[in-house]
Amino acid sequence: MSDDLTIIKGTKTEQYSALIPQIEALILGEPDLIANLANIVAALKEQFGWLWVGFYLVKQDELVLAPFQGPVACTRIRKGRGVCGTAWQEMKTLIVPDVNAFPGHISCSSLSRSEIVMPLIRNGKVIGVLDADSTSLSEFDTVDQEYLGQILSLIRLSKNN
Ligand code: SME
Repeated sequence: MSDDLTIIKGTKTEQYSALIPQIEALILGEPDLIANLANIVAALKEQFGWLWVGFYLVKQDELVLAPFQGPVACTRIRKGRGVCGTAWQEMKTLIVPDVNAFPGHISCSSLSRSEIVMPLIRNGKVIGVLDADSTSLSEFDTVDQEYLGQILSLIRLSKNN
């Protein structure tokens, strides 16, 4: 494929529908997990322009910062802490319409107003989380959850060497 991503305008569904095949083509045949996570967050950032989008990966008893796009972020998050650590502990997606209303939210940027965190689950265990932050309130909803879930399922074959 061409190195350039085709960015489209339109509804969220239209944007994800155009983006997902391109992400699929980018990671098809590439087994390295970090390389694939890096291209996924680059593609999401370019299409949606969110403040921050990135992964944290589980290492021992903490989440450790992994490929991301956006401002510098906190490097380690303990299980059960913040939105990311809670999504890990509860093994579920958290959509936070107003980060200031989430008890224990970890603020990496004062510009972040809303957030979605989805666990990356492999063989029944959380191996990391995908986190996206927006400068707008209520940016994320179940449409994002559905399509980001499809993107996460594309990396099920990637290996973390
Ligand atoms: N807000 C997250 C921390 C990670 S940053 O937003 C990049 C949380 O509460 O877990």
